[in-house]
Amino acid sequence: MERTLIIAKPDAVQRGLIGTIITRLEQKGLKLIGLKMAGLDKAVLRTHYAEHVEKDFYAGLEQFMKSSPVVLMAWEGFECVESVRTLVGATNPRQASPGSIRGDLAIGTGRNLIHASDSKASGQSEVSHFFSDAELFAYDKSEYVHIYEDGERA
Ligand code: RTP
Ligand code: MG
Repeated sequence: MERTLIIAKPDAVQRGLIGTIITRLEQKGLKLIGLKMAGLDKAVLRTHYAEHVEKDFYAGLEQFMKSSPVVLMAWEGFECVESVRTLVGATNPRQASPGSIRGDLAIGTGRNLIHASDSKASGQSEVSHFFSDAELFAYDKSEYVHIYEDGERA
């Protein structure tokens, strides 16, 4: 099934919003397959944010992402990358829809609480970048029959 990487960023850790973020994704019906706390260093951040390294905001982004530990999560679900991006909301939280995590809980673009993979390919590669195979868990979720139609669970 499709995978997506979520990072509860330093602002989420500092503001005590880790539980809220996990709850929103759990309530959607997604399956948590990996979870850990980590401090991200320069090398890891430069790989993760490779598309942004040359941009004006990168230095501030890197400094912020190193400012405290983060919580890394791997989630699985049918077409989960797109549905999680919708749940997370627009990059600028002031433009994010009400009901989304950023729309409800954040204001600053550089303090938008959460990273979410932006494509099916990046979901796969980002989960592999941050989690070893031994840190990812395959298990059946009994409630799946109430969340998915048969064809969506394949
Ligand atoms: P993310 O990668 O963190 O899930 O966020 P995103 O896809 O919505 O946004 P992206 O364009 O990938 O930018 C990555 C993060 O960099 C910070 N940013 N600051 N000051 C700015 O103009 C600016 N633009 C982006 C944000 O923290 C954003 O989440
Ligand atoms: Mg992004």
